[in-house]
Amino acid sequence: MKTFREPNKLQKWCRAQALKGRKIALVPTMGYLHEGHLSLIEAAKRKGADEIVVSVFVNPVQFGPKEDYAKYPRDEKADVAKCRATGATAVFLPTPEAMYFKDHSVYVNEEDLSTGLCGARRPGHFRGVCTVVAKLFNIVRPDFAVFGQKDFQQAQVIRRMARDLNFGIDIVVAPIVREPTGLARSSRNTYLSDVERERALAISKALMSIVPGRAVAAERRRVEKALAAASLKVDYVEFVDAATLKAVKKVAPGTACLVAAYDGATRLIDNRLF
Ligand code: PAF
Repeated sequence: MKTFREPNKLQKWCRAQALKGRKIALVPTMGYLHEGHLSLIEAAKRKGADEIVVSVFVNPVQFGPKEDYAKYPRDEKADVAKCRATGATAVFLPTPEAMYFKDHSVYVNEEDLSTGLCGARRPGHFRGVCTVVAKLFNIVRPDFAVFGQKDFQQAQVIRRMARDLNFGIDIVVAPIVREPTGLARSSRNTYLSDVERERALAISKALMSIVPGRAVAAERRRVEKALAAASLKVDYVEFVDAATLKAVKKVAPGTACLVAAYDGATRLIDNRLF
C-alpha cells in the first residue's frame, strides 16, 4: 500500500494508474476508522476497483468555530494499518497546509439540498464538505467514490455536486453499519460515556419503530417523545423525500427519516430509508 502526503504526488500516481486503464475508487474519510469506514473500502472492492485510495483528512473548513475540530479523534498509525488490512492500495494523509494555501479563496456551494437539516444547523458545513470533496475528486480523478449512508444529506449533496459540476464520477452510497446494539457506527461515538452510549440506543430504536404507511406527524411526535424520554435533546426529526430532501406527509417508499440529537455534548445523527 502506498502512502501519500502531497496532493501533487498522489495526483501524479493516480494519473499514471488511470493511463494504465486501472479503475480507481476514492473513499474519503476523516480518519479514526471504524467498521463503517472499512465497509466503504469493502464496497469499493466489490465494485471492482483496481486501486482504492482512502483519504484521511480532518477537514478544518467543514467545522464551525464552536465545533469539535481540535478534539476530533485522530489515530494515523491505526488508520494506516486498517487501510492496509482491508485492501486499500493507497492512503492519502495530507496536512491542512498541504490542502489549503494560506490565501485559499475558492469554495464550492451547493444551494438546494444543503440548505435544510444539518446545513441549517451547521452554517458553512456543506460548503466545507463540497470544497474538500471537489479537491479530492480533482486530485484523484476516481471512477467512483464511496460515501456512507449515515451522512444521508452529505451523500445527496455530493451526488448533486458531482452531477452539476460534471465530475463524471459515480457516487456510491454504502449502507449504515451498526454496532450489535443498533447504534450507528461513528468516530464521534468515542465521545460518549457508558451512560450516554446507553441513551444513544434510543435513536436507532425509535427509527426502527417507525411504521411505513403512517402519517408523518404522528410518527415524528412518537420519535421525538422516545428521544426525549431517553434524555436526548432533539435537534431535528425530519421525514423527507430521499432525493429532494423536501418534507413529506406520509412514510412511503422513498421516504427517509433523518434524526439529529444531542447526547450530552455530543451531536449524533442517524437515519432510515424506507
Ligand atoms: O464524511 C466525512 O467523513 C467527511 O465529511 C468527508 C466526506 C470525508 C469530507 O471531509
